Amino acid sequence: MKKLIIAIDGPAAAGKSSVAKLLAERLNYLYVDTGAMYRCITLLVLKNKVDVEDEDEIAKLLKDCNLSVSKSFFILNGEDVTHEIRSKKVSDNVSVVCAHPKVRMEMVNKQRELAKDGGVVLDGRDIGTFVFPNADVKIYQTANTETRSLRRYQENRAKGIDTSLEEVMQDIIKRDKMDSTRLLAPLMKAEDAVLIDTSSMNTEQTVNKIIDIIKTKTGEEFND
Ligand code: DC
Repeated sequence: MKKLIIAIDGPAAAGKSSVAKLLAERLNYLYVDTGAMYRCITLLVLKNKVDVEDEDEIAKLLKDCNLSVSKSFFILNGEDVTHEIRSKKVSDNVSVVCAHPKVRMEMVNKQRELAKDGGVVLDGRDIGTFVFPNADVKIYQTANTETRSLRRYQENRAKGIDTSLEEVMQDIIKRDKMDSTRLLAPLMKAEDAVLIDTSSMNTEQTVNKIIDIIKTKTGEEFND
């Protein structure tokens, strides 16, 4: 059976990561969290006290940076940063750092390399439009702003991150605006992506729906 490339894009906190991770498990595919890759670079920039607006300095940092992605762990220059990349400081700066074309092209090349043999689920903002415009299956996963904010707020609380619901909502609105208005590869639905609104769906239901879409689109049966 052909090993597919499955792209899941959508706005912040739409539940893409949970869905992509479970989907990859069910299909026995590799899962690539591309947002986490941009978060790692943002952390690197902050740790080195480089100005987040300074694309050339950031590009220099990237040259000597060793980022490895293994399952759900992110190792940056030998250090496990899996938890640190979810901090508020990183979330506040990631949309600026990831908008630099030199940063994007470096990460996009890495994503293309990771997924070149197929059998992969990638989630992000530009997977179906820019990274893999020929992906076998494209999903645009969204939910209304209130639902997304509440979900992220509850996740934060469970992780001990202390922010108000209002702060979370403002952060989501701000990031979506920046991510969808940047010049290179902005957040948008690919024309041929299937839109799934998960406002009243849980992770399991969303994954089941995507598996149905994959079956219909490819005519393949899965032993998931
Ligand atoms: O999915 P996330 O919230 O962890 O993503 C963090 C940021 O990375 C998000 O604000 C936009 C950016 N991003 C991107 O520009 N392109 C991607 N393919 C994935 C994420």
